[in-house]
Amino acid sequence: MMEEAQTKEFAREMFILSQINHRNVVKLLGCCLEAEVPMLVYEFVSNGTLDQYIHGGKGINSDRAFGTCLRVAVESAEALAYMHSSASPPIIHGDVKTANILLDDKLTAKVSDFGASKLAPTDEATIATLVQGTCGYLDPEYLITCLLTDKSDVYSFGVVLLELLTRKKALYLDGSAKDRSLVLCFMTAAKVGQHQELLDRQVRDEMRIEVLEEITHLVIRCLNMSGEERPTMKEVAERLEMLRRKQMHI
Ligand SMILES: *[C@@H]1O[C@H](CO)[C@@H](O)[C@H](O)[C@H]1NC(C)=O
Ligand SMILES: *[C@@H]1O[C@H](CO)[C@@H](O)[C@H](O)[C@H]1NC(C)=O
Repeated sequence: MMEEAQTKEFAREMFILSQINHRNVVKLLGCCLEAEVPMLVYEFVSNGTLDQYIHGGKGINSDRAFGTCLRVAVESAEALAYMHSSASPPIIHGDVKTANILLDDKLTAKVSDFGASKLAPTDEATIATLVQGTCGYLDPEYLITCLLTDKSDVYSFGVVLLELLTRKKALYLDGSAKDRSLVLCFMTAAKVGQHQELLDRQVRDEMRIEVLEEITHLVIRCLNMSGEERPTMKEVAERLEMLRRKQMHI
């Protein structure tokens, strides 16, 4: 339910989003503000989410699965980098997770649900109750400052990379309390240099050792507690593309 001022703001943002034309961002085709609850119409993306692809078992066991995952990671990173640095005004996603990365019939990544976070009102009294995002992916700094930045997306994207590498969910509820968070498990292991052991066996078998080391180093940088220390999405995209090339030229 929206006030008139909110509706105007919403319409403005939808207008901005509808101008975005990037092959790895789900295209917003239109919206209808006349209904009580606004409706958005997006292009249809047929092949489910990255979450289903990694955890659903469908397709993941083929021999080139990790190559596909790496390409999907590059494509998603490029989409986010584009929204952060080429869109005007810049757009922060605010809820980056594997369930928001859709795959089309050629398994091309299409980042969806863009801009949801920007719909939150900016006055501080209401902002605290409006924390969006998803447990397991949320930038810890955002919880303290209530300020969503492009580096919040970088943190969440680090969790996505970690899911790709470990094939574990960001939160798994079957573990003991301290083993529930993928990030905590990974960062604890990283402190004593044992993080490679958490990686999926097939991933470890498929990937070149130096690529594996560089990609886990990148993940650790994305997950730094301080947003300022994290790389930009642009740098993440460039590094991933470089690693993908390195991996392909065995
Ligand atoms: C998804 O993509 C895979 C690989 O291209 C294909 O085998 C599968 O049939 C697709 N599924 C759907 C629902 O399109
Ligand atoms: C964050 O990054 C800084 C600079 O690279 C590093 O000194 C620090 O140890 C990192 N913190 C964590 C928790 O990784």
